[in-house]
Amino acid sequence: MNLRALLLASAVSGTLFSVGAQAADMTIGFSQIGSESGWRAAETTVSKAEAKKRNINFKIADAQQKQENQIKAIRSFVAQGVDAIFLAPVVATGWDSVLKEAKEAKIPVVLLDRDIDPAGKDLYLTAVTSDSVHEGKVAGEWLVKTAAGKPCNVVELQGTVGASVATNRKKGFEDGIAGASNVKIVRSQTGDFTRAKGKEVMESFIKAEGGGKNICAVYAHNDDMMVGAIQAMKEAGLKPGTEVLTVSIDAVPDIFKAMAAGEANATVELTPNMAGPAFDAVIAFKEKGTVPPKWIQTESKLYTQADNPMAVYEAKKDLGY
Ligand code: AHR
Repeated sequence: MNLRALLLASAVSGTLFSVGAQAADMTIGFSQIGSESGWRAAETTVSKAEAKKRNINFKIADAQQKQENQIKAIRSFVAQGVDAIFLAPVVATGWDSVLKEAKEAKIPVVLLDRDIDPAGKDLYLTAVTSDSVHEGKVAGEWLVKTAAGKPCNVVELQGTVGASVATNRKKGFEDGIAGASNVKIVRSQTGDFTRAKGKEVMESFIKAEGGGKNICAVYAHNDDMMVGAIQAMKEAGLKPGTEVLTVSIDAVPDIFKAMAAGEANATVELTPNMAGPAFDAVIAFKEKGTVPPKWIQTESKLYTQADNPMAVYEAKKDLGY
């Protein structure tokens, strides 16, 4: 279908149906990290639904948290001659060779939810991500405001070592608390974005900090680690949400449940719909040659206990988290 016919068909249908019809011929491969968190599960579910809406043949390869599996999946997608590849890079470095192979095969790559080392910017078409430095900053600023000048020792649960979002969320939080000498990070360790690891690391923080008495707040790079940390605090006889403040990132349904129960304080939302804008960018690129901006930024919104957490939980609970 040429451009004129395409526009006419769109006008007649009043929808993007004709674009969807063309997209029906497309096969897109997605190298997904795994299923380490509720957010990740939702991203996979939403991606499939967004592909279905556009009639795209969508192939997902689960890398089980391993970069080597992601590299294998990308090579396999290149060998299959897919129309585009989506990549959620588990870590930021080590992609140059495989992305060069995709580029030589003229297959556009779109990064979803995480970034790669800046050296590789010409190796992908666009990145659909949030501003993860900003997310950390919002969390830090919320804590400074809430601590209201009182001394506040913070323990930090970091995401996967080497992941862009872990590096950025750490930096952003540090920026957010920089002007407040009363707020200090006293311990910081990776919990690998999982509930189990978040709980385990929090248990060790509690032990190291006199049974938790010296901890004023927990900052976690995702909600799943915070849910694990909340469990650890409760088992240690602490009262998360009142005695110990919590702030984390993702906005998964379970954190809203904890907020409604008064056991969590704040979260910064990360939309699980990274694939929708990515599909639209690839379709426009393939069909009309429209080059997307290098960064398609998704929104970040702060939620606290004042935002009717039970209603948000109800609205989110069946969305694939
Ligand atoms: O890259 C996004 C992060 O990855 C999410 O915040 C976290 O839950 C996931 O594992």
